[in-house]
Amino acid sequence: MTEDIDFEIDPSILPKKVKRKPLGPPSVIADDLYITYRVFGGRRGGTAKQRKSLWDKAISLGRPSTGPITHVPAVKGVSFVAHHGESVAILGTNGSGKSTLLRAIAGLLPPTEGRVYTSAEPELLGVNAAMLPRLTGERNIMIGGLALGLSSKEVRESVEHVADFAELGDFLYLPMTSYSSGMASRLRFAISTIRSPEILMIDEALATGDASFRKKSMARIEEIRESAGTVFFVSHSLASVRAMCTRALWIEKGVLVADGDVDEVADAYQEFVDRRTNASSGANLK
Ligand SMILES: Nc1ncnc2c1ncn2[C@@H]1O[C@H](COP(=O)(O)OP(=O)(O)OP(=O)(O)O)[C@@H](O)[C@H]1O
Ligand SMILES: [Mg+2]
Repeated sequence: MTEDIDFEIDPSILPKKVKRKPLGPPSVIADDLYITYRVFGGRRGGTAKQRKSLWDKAISLGRPSTGPITHVPAVKGVSFVAHHGESVAILGTNGSGKSTLLRAIAGLLPPTEGRVYTSAEPELLGVNAAMLPRLTGERNIMIGGLALGLSSKEVRESVEHVADFAELGDFLYLPMTSYSSGMASRLRFAISTIRSPEILMIDEALATGDASFRKKSMARIEEIRESAGTVFFVSHSLASVRAMCTRALWIEKGVLVADGDVDEVADAYQEFVDRRTNASSGANLK
């Protein structure tokens, strides 16, 4: 199987390389962070004999068994310090633990071991960010704004601006069930960046927007970083990562394998992916 990197992206829409500036104080510290998921009801490790034993049936009193618990270690001993004014890419192949790491930094997943310290509440902008699809875009902007801590007056004032940014037109007054996935993701982006958050985390959320919206959202991300925020950016597009980030963390199977200048880490990652792709296509030919 080949790795899905560098999805179609027009290099002309990418901003010129971001300007580096002196870094501010630390904004996120991950200290030897481990995240292990516990999955119930899996089959791994549970033999048919175990599941059907008379003893199991007796103690479960006829209730359906939840099956054995499987532990999935997704992040293993990751440590780093991110600073204000830094945009950090998180690279890694599918299932390497990128989204898990972001969710842990956002405080949505408790660390199994280790600690995360943040200077402000991070805002996670992900493909699955919560929206209420049966409500109109306008209502979602209001709810999202209130959830971000805006006053109801500020929310009312920002509706127009958010709708303009998301280019919703008259769809603003229709339920989100009538939106295309690109429209929904534009609205999600516009809501999450109503204010310049101190720590913004983006998980593949830009991949669904069209070229012109991507350009606009990249400019907005740059504005946030300029206002001394920290941006974490997960993307399989190395071109956008190189253009937008100053630093990259590369995670493989939950372990941090590289942390440094974005170009150096992206080169190493690209080489790793190419080697893997060649190895697997070689195996397929045999
Ligand atoms: N809710 C969950 N329950 C159990 N295991 C999970 C859960 N979410 C993710 N995992 C596992 O944790 C590991 C890391 O997953 P994660 O989603 O963080 O990877 P990722 O790097 O974001 O991958 P992708 O590039 O595909 O988005 C994978 O092995 C995955 O199967
Ligand atoms: Mg992911």
